[in-house]
Amino acid sequence: MRFTIRTYGCQMNVRDSEAVEALMLEKGYEKAESEEDADIVIINSCTVRQKAEEKAIGKAGNMIAAGKQVWMIGCAVKRLGADLYRRLPKVSFAATPEELAAKPEFASAHVVNGFQAFVTVMTGCNNRCSYCIVPAVRGPEKSRPEADIFAEVEFLAGKGVREVTLLGQSVLRYNGFPRLLRRIAGIDGIERIRFTSAHPSGCTDELVEVYRDCPKVCRHLHLPVQSGSDRVLAEMGRRYTRAEYLAAVAKLRAFDPEFSVTTDVIVGYPGETEEDFEATRSLMEEAQFDNAFVFKYSPRPGTRSALLADDVSTEEKERRDQVLLADQERRGQKRNDALAGSVREVLVEGPSKRNPDRWSGRDSGNRIVVWDADDPASRRTPGEFARIKILEAHPQILVGEIERRSP
Ligand code: 5AD
Ligand code: SF4
Repeated sequence: MRFTIRTYGCQMNVRDSEAVEALMLEKGYEKAESEEDADIVIINSCTVRQKAEEKAIGKAGNMIAAGKQVWMIGCAVKRLGADLYRRLPKVSFAATPEELAAKPEFASAHVVNGFQAFVTVMTGCNNRCSYCIVPAVRGPEKSRPEADIFAEVEFLAGKGVREVTLLGQSVLRYNGFPRLLRRIAGIDGIERIRFTSAHPSGCTDELVEVYRDCPKVCRHLHLPVQSGSDRVLAEMGRRYTRAEYLAAVAKLRAFDPEFSVTTDVIVGYPGETEEDFEATRSLMEEAQFDNAFVFKYSPRPGTRSALLADDVSTEEKERRDQVLLADQERRGQKRNDALAGSVREVLVEGPSKRNPDRWSGRDSGNRIVVWDADDPASRRTPGEFARIKILEAHPQILVGEIERRSP
């Protein structure tokens, strides 16, 4: 039997899909070349917004119609419960994230095919943000023992992994996280360490000291802000103020002005006024985000905010979304313009999918860097470092050339 996995949602799901793949291979299933070639299509679903859930359900329906066996896993399985079988009567198998995580071998199962890997540090979430379905679908927060995490990264390093991304809904809450970072930075072969997702309360002096001491810890933090209005932040239950959030960003940028800070923002939260929205706009300008993901509020069943009237119209949500994206486009351009002429230390990923004559990789700040590689001397092995001199900046991409050393 041949299988393939389609993954929706966040990096936790990407990690879970990797683990499922490893366990399937161990059980003797084979990986299909393509969807057409597969007997079993495993769909790892997301439910963070209604649209995300619909995509996974729609895909499952199509695959069933195409005669495939469909196995559903992921967050939408948990949210839908018995409704899943009403929506998709022909689904062959379903498991929630917690059911998968209950297998002892699940946490450390890996298919290592490349130089990058995700490592779970914490599962679940204890925050109770009013809009968020994650605690309901991923269960309460649970930390993995430090020794297990460390052993897993050592194992991965032995398999050629050079970049690890430590995962948790609120990873900075891991007890002794700075110490864990230092220990992992000491593992031979590991060249880069990333982690996500973060909360501003975790941006302590101790964390900045880790950045200072460990160049392997990447100069990028994804720090979801959600809103710039103190009133909305309080309603959301985010447990920080606008000023506290901006102080966290300022601390990172004081350490390194090029430190890349990215964020998530929700527009159209119940009761969000024009004034609240303008506060989000001005916060984004003050924070000078390197990149931002903007989401239109979507009420999720069972969350606290689902009890409030979803009173910002679809058109107004769309307008606010567009305004923030246009702002961010200008800001991204400005942030990246400042990097023109600099040399970025890039971990090479390989030929770009759209144009194989262009190669691509990422700098420590997680910025995408591409360079012309039609001349073979400009090609590198994926997983190797390259030094790229930046010639051209765009809002979400830097274009350069392999650094030529002066004679
Ligand atoms: N509606 C819209 N966006 C949401 N997010 C989480 N829940 C919702 C919701 N109900 C966004 C947040 C989060 C990102 C992963 O998805 O911005 O950081
Ligand atoms: Fe990830 Fe949340 Fe989507 Fe689940 S619901 S896949 S935790 S984004």
